[in-house]
Amino acid sequence: SCSRLVLGIETSCDDTGAAVMDGSGAILGESLHSQKEVHLRTGGIIPTVAQQLHRENIQRVVQEALDRSGVAPAELSAVATTVKPGLALSLAVGLEFSQRFVRRHNKPFIPIHHMEAHALTVRMLHAVPFPFLVLLVSGGHSLLAVARGVDDFLLLGRTLDEAPGDTLDKVARRLSLRKHPRCATLSGGQAIELLAKDGDRRRFGFRTPMGQTTDCCFSFAGLRNQVTMLIKKTEAEEGVEEGTLLSQVSDIAAATQHTVASHLAKRTHRAVLFCKANGLLPADNPTLVLSGGVASNQYIRRALLIIAEATGLRLLCPPARFCTDNGPMIAWNGVERLREGRGILPPGVDVSYEPR
Ligand code: KG4
Ligand code: ZN
Repeated sequence: SCSRLVLGIETSCDDTGAAVMDGSGAILGESLHSQKEVHLRTGGIIPTVAQQLHRENIQRVVQEALDRSGVAPAELSAVATTVKPGLALSLAVGLEFSQRFVRRHNKPFIPIHHMEAHALTVRMLHAVPFPFLVLLVSGGHSLLAVARGVDDFLLLGRTLDEAPGDTLDKVARRLSLRKHPRCATLSGGQAIELLAKDGDRRRFGFRTPMGQTTDCCFSFAGLRNQVTMLIKKTEAEEGVEEGTLLSQVSDIAAATQHTVASHLAKRTHRAVLFCKANGLLPADNPTLVLSGGVASNQYIRRALLIIAEATGLRLLCPPARFCTDNGPMIAWNGVERLREGRGILPPGVDVSYEPR
């Protein structure tokens, strides 16, 4: 019922997030502290730094979410917290904080699987019945799955090496895109999307990964290698230092983005055909959900929209703030689990969890 109030806490990577939500999915209060700026400066996430920043911010972030909601801890039905997967040091901060919190306020605890939360977020915003197909793409993850129920996922494919956001971030770093005035404050993926708008994607051709592989897995390391070799070659031709290429950067960005989009679209197309052949999706109004930080890329969205339209699926993509890590998605997963009565640890149970 709507009166069930859940506090959700997220610390699996580089965002400290918290939200208080009612049983209908309404966000009563939320707070988010992003470490992205710090990690951009160091050129990647240093786990001990991430942990320290979570430690410095979690108390304030949770308190802010509670204050904004006007809900007292005593009124909560449960606390839901990400326990896996993610950076072990980061996860530990959220888990330890939550353990103390539930002990002090004598509340049930709901351990949350981060990917389950990403996949279910769409149901906080739209009436999407199970089962649906979901593509999650971010800096840390890349997977295709059929969501069959709140805690019932059929994994169709995942990345064999790195995640697409990670690839885009590394290419952006290799091109020193942070030095471009228009890209100074952007993530690698955002910088590549911006520059690609002025680029000619046909000038350089990259091979779409795994053209011959008959599954729904992803691979981006080979693409990154192709892009790096092209950058090296172009730097040599132009006679410039490593990371100082100016001309052709937009064309390289456009070709990279196009290949990532094309790979994601082709694997998703395969997955849709597999689902249809095996009756894994409803005949009526089947849905494809696209989420994760990379899902905010408009070019990639359009590629997925083409696949969805060609196969008769409706494409749903949560707004950017719900695609990246956030407190509400964890609270929502808690709400869904409370409704189902699954995976809820009663007060007083010692919550120790081995992060995967
Ligand atoms: O979900 P998220 O905030 O954090 C995790 O990785 O879990 O996603 C961040 C990732 C970064 O790799 C970033 O480069 C990528 O999402 N990203 C984008 C865009 N915005 C963020 N990639 C492509 N196009 C974008 N517009
Ligand atoms: Zn995430």
